[in-house]
Amino acid sequence: MIMDYLLATPPLDALETECLIVAVFENQQLSPAAQVLNALTDGLIAEMLARGDMQAKVADSLLINYLPCASIKRALLIGLGQADSITPKDYRKAVMSAATALKATQVSSAVCCLPENQVTGQNISWNTRQIVEAFSASFYQFNDCKSKPDDKPALQQLSIHSETDADAVQTGIYQGESIAKGVKLARHVSDLPGNICTPAYLAEQAVGLAKFYDNLTAEILEEADMEKLGMGSFLSVSRGSRQPAKLITLEYNGADSDTQPIVFVGKGLTFDAGGISLKPGAGMDEMKYDMCGSAAVLGTLQAAAAMKLPLNIVGIIPSSENMPDGDANKPGDIVTSMAGLTIEILNTDAEGRLILCDALTYAKKFNPDVVIDLATLTGACLVALGRVPSGLLGNDDVLCNDLQAASETALDSVWRLPLWDEYQEQLKSNFADIANIGGRDAGTITAACFLSRFTEDYQWAHLDIAGTAWKSGDAKGATGRPVPLLVQYLLDRANID
Ligand code: BES
Ligand code: MN
Ligand code: ZN
Repeated sequence: MIMDYLLATPPLDALETECLIVAVFENQQLSPAAQVLNALTDGLIAEMLARGDMQAKVADSLLINYLPCASIKRALLIGLGQADSITPKDYRKAVMSAATALKATQVSSAVCCLPENQVTGQNISWNTRQIVEAFSASFYQFNDCKSKPDDKPALQQLSIHSETDADAVQTGIYQGESIAKGVKLARHVSDLPGNICTPAYLAEQAVGLAKFYDNLTAEILEEADMEKLGMGSFLSVSRGSRQPAKLITLEYNGADSDTQPIVFVGKGLTFDAGGISLKPGAGMDEMKYDMCGSAAVLGTLQAAAAMKLPLNIVGIIPSSENMPDGDANKPGDIVTSMAGLTIEILNTDAEGRLILCDALTYAKKFNPDVVIDLATLTGACLVALGRVPSGLLGNDDVLCNDLQAASETALDSVWRLPLWDEYQEQLKSNFADIANIGGRDAGTITAACFLSRFTEDYQWAHLDIAGTAWKSGDAKGATGRPVPLLVQYLLDRANID
C-alpha cells in the first residue's frame, strides 16, 4: 500500500475531512487546532474532556467518530501531556499512537494538526517528518510469503495541516518520505527469509537501486575477484556455504568528484548458523537477520539518492552465509586477511568480523573521509545494552559525537562503549597475529577491537546493531534501524536541517 502525504493549508473551518487529528493537553487544555474544532462543534471537545474520560497524558488517544459538523466527520484526540514541555520522545510516542488508532478505523483520508505544537528543541519540519516516519512504520506489512495477505489498513492519504509554515511542512514531508522509504526497504529485505534473501539477492537489490536512481552505481565482486584481492578471511566464511559470496559496492555521487566519500560498511550474513561452532536450535531462525547491517546500507543509500544529498557516499556490503559443512572453517584454522594479518579462528561463529575486516581494508580504496560499519555483531551487545540503543565504538571522537548527536535528533539511540588498548590483550593468539574471539568478558568491545586492527588508516566508527535491528517475540520483525540515524548523520553533514 502506498500512502500519500500532502500539505493542507486552508483554515480548519474551511477544510473537509473524514478525520481531524488534534492534540489535547492535561488539565483539559486544548491545542490551537483543538480550539478551532471546539468552536466548530459548539464546545463538544471541551465538554468531552470535562467528563474526565481522557486525561490527555502522552499518547492517550480518543476517537470521536461522529461530530455535529458537516465538513469534519470525525476527530482523533491525541494526548500530549503538559503543553509547555513536550519532549521529542513524547511527541514521537503520541504520533505513534495516532497511527495505531487510525489503523483501527475505516478512515481513508485524514488531516493531522499535531506539528503545530512546540516540541522542545525541534521545528515544524522535524515535527512533520516524525509523522511521516511513524505512520509509514506503523502501516508496514510483510506479505511477500503469505498466500492470503493481511488486511490492508483503510488510510490512503494523510494531510499535514499548517496555515503558516507550508515550506517547513513540505520539507518535513519530503525528508520523512525519503527516510521512510529507506527504512521500509531495510525492513523488507531483512524480513525476507534466508532462502530468498541470499547474497545474490542482495546484489540484485543494489543493482536495482542503481538502475533506478541517477548518481548511483553498483559493482558486484564475485569470489574469484575477491580471491585476487587476497580476501582470505572473508572467503573462508563463505567456503562452507553453497551460496556464492558477493562483495557489493554502491556508489552515490552527489558532490564534486574530489570530495572524499562517507563510507558505510554493512554486515551481510544472509544466514548465520554459526558454522562448525554451530548455534543452538532455539531462535536460530532469527539469524536470517544477520544481514540487517547490509539492509541499512541499502536503505540509507536509497534515502540519500532520493533526497539528492550533496555528498559522496559509498556503501560496501560483504555478503555470505555461515554454514556447517565439510569445507567450512574449523576452530583452530588460520586464515590470512587482505590486510596481511593472519587470524586464528577459535570460534567459527565469530564470522561477522572475518568478513568485515576484509571489507574494511577494501574501503581504503575509496579514500574515505570517514568509515562507519553497521553489524549485528555480538550477542554480548544485548547483554550490555539490551534492545534500546545500538552500541557505538570508534577511533575518532568527532565522528562518534556526530553520530551521537544525529541519534538524538533521529530518536534512534546509540550508547558509546570504550575501545581502550587494554582490551586488545584479549585477542592474543599463540599461533597467528590475532585471534577472532576475546573470551567471555566484554564481547562487544573485543569484537570492535578486532575490527580496529583493520581501520587504523581512517576515522572509523562501528555500530553494533544486534539488539536494535529487529524485534523478537510476538512482534518479530525488522525495525529498519539504524537507517534514521544514518540519514540524519548525512543531513547534518550536508548542513541541511
Ligand atoms: N550474528 C551473531 C551475533 C548475534 C547473536 C546477534 C545473537 C544477535 C543475536 C554473531 O555472528 C555471533 O555469532 N557472535 C558470537 C560471537 C562469539 C562467538 C564471540 C556471539 O555473540 O555469540
Ligand atoms: Mn555468528
Ligand atoms: Zn553473525
